[in-house]
Amino acid sequence: MKPKCVVALALPDDIIERLATRYEVAAWNGSDAMSQQRLSDALAGAEGLLCALSTPVSATIIDQATELKVISTISVGVDHIAMPAATRCGIPVGHTPGVLVDSTADLAVALMLASTRRIAEADQWVRESQWTQGWQSDLLLGTDISQATVGLVGLGPIGEAVARRLRGFGCKLVGWNRTPRVIEDVEPMTLDQVFEQADVVSLHTALTEETRHIASRERLALMRTGATLINTGRGLLVDEHALIDELGSGRLRAGLDVFREEPLPPHHPFLAMRNVVLLPHVGSATLSTRSAMLQRALENLNAGMSDLPLAWCANPEVYHREPYI
Ligand code: DGY
Repeated sequence: MKPKCVVALALPDDIIERLATRYEVAAWNGSDAMSQQRLSDALAGAEGLLCALSTPVSATIIDQATELKVISTISVGVDHIAMPAATRCGIPVGHTPGVLVDSTADLAVALMLASTRRIAEADQWVRESQWTQGWQSDLLLGTDISQATVGLVGLGPIGEAVARRLRGFGCKLVGWNRTPRVIEDVEPMTLDQVFEQADVVSLHTALTEETRHIASRERLALMRTGATLINTGRGLLVDEHALIDELGSGRLRAGLDVFREEPLPPHHPFLAMRNVVLLPHVGSATLSTRSAMLQRALENLNAGMSDLPLAWCANPEVYHREPYI
């Protein structure tokens, strides 16, 4: 009998067929996210779970999945998975670091330019047939990234890749990292100084208990009037209510790829604001990056189901402890 694995998101048929040559596959193919109840039911007797950000994997689900040997997520972030529970149960969690660095860094820079040069707003303006005169000297004026100070919150691989790109624009770079890190041309500062001194603050840190609301109401208030907040990390890095207040007053601008609640609910205040560029969590959304992520996730799944160590494991400590009894 083949071991069972659950695929908690819709994937192309050829991938499911490939998996079915090795496993009994319970694959979700709904257009919405798999519900917690369905996931819990599907995991009965399953040894592997392939999932993504849209499917939270709670401690209760992990505790009930008594046969589970591996969780493999098609993402670098693992904040949708109850990591302490997985580790406590001795279940390795595979993720996909590395392969999405460049795509995400590109998108962060794209959002910086879109926000500072008001690109989305200008595009909408043209589509609304508001362009009734030719060139106008004061039309949709923005600010120059080349003259800006850009503050990077988090100097891991993505923050560093953003810095590498921005060097070409000639802007001043300042940054903060949880553990001190030296990056060429990035002046290290305290977190508060980064918020205070940057014209553009860009968030590149993982979401943890420590970094939740790292862009707090107090820090947003420190930002210069007219400054821009960029978030391609996780929605919960920002106190969204405070950001809504700052954007509503017109004091700040923002470029956001991630939100506290995804998808963004209808009638969310952001939707009515012109000074925020909104994207649907597409930082890693290029053909080659998504295919590399899937490849790594499948390798992790196969390794875990064969009782082998995962090549990209978010909780490697599971391999250095006594099995959970
Ligand atoms: C991740 O991998 O964590 C991104 O947010 C989605 O690609």
